[in-house]
Amino acid sequence: MESTPAAWSEADAFLSDLLVGPDADLESALSAQREAGLPEIEVAPVAGKLLNLLVRISGARRVLEVGTLGGYSTIWLARAVGPGGRVVTIEAESDNAAVARASIDAAGVGDRVDIRVGRGVDVLPTLVGGFDLVFIDADKESNTIYLDWAAKLGHPGTVVVLDNIGREGEIVRDDSTDPKVVGTREGLRMLGEDPRFDATALQTVGVKGWDGFAIAVVV
Ligand code: DHB
Ligand code: MG
Repeated sequence: MESTPAAWSEADAFLSDLLVGPDADLESALSAQREAGLPEIEVAPVAGKLLNLLVRISGARRVLEVGTLGGYSTIWLARAVGPGGRVVTIEAESDNAAVARASIDAAGVGDRVDIRVGRGVDVLPTLVGGFDLVFIDADKESNTIYLDWAAKLGHPGTVVVLDNIGREGEIVRDDSTDPKVVGTREGLRMLGEDPRFDATALQTVGVKGWDGFAIAVVV
């Protein structure tokens, strides 16, 4: 096999079929998102399952998400915290939040999901801390602000996951003027240098192309 985006995508679909399987509620959430004209930039199915597993492996009960979009990753997270758990998810666009609210409720996990509409920079200072896992998947330009709040609103042992750390390899371009690339690079540098975090990052290929995640613990 040649290592091409088409082959990565085919292999990713194979893995999703085997390990994630069909899921009516998640598929409905994606249809609703598409019909509403939201961008199709939610995490891949295998990545949603990774988030779900990280919550369960770490025993997280209080989860914070920055960037709800249509609620796809939120549903994965909400399932993982269980009936007594809580997911607070921040979405800047009220139209997106309405789509997410309907899909999350339809998936049967609405009781444990609190959607806060507003920009992360405005909403984060209003939250009470104690989050056990933080998933950051919003405007890349604000990654360092979100990471700072993840540390402040977390505790030693809090898991922090940052999406989109590969960006088709653009992260190596130190002369890039793309604000998303600059923000991604700054977030990664912070994870490497800020003593509040111990982190690694994994590149991924698959249905979402060439990208990746950083995973950190608050020390
Ligand atoms: C973009 C944002 C995302 O969160 C993602 O997963 C893919 C792309 C973007 O803004 O380009
Ligand atoms: Mg993302």
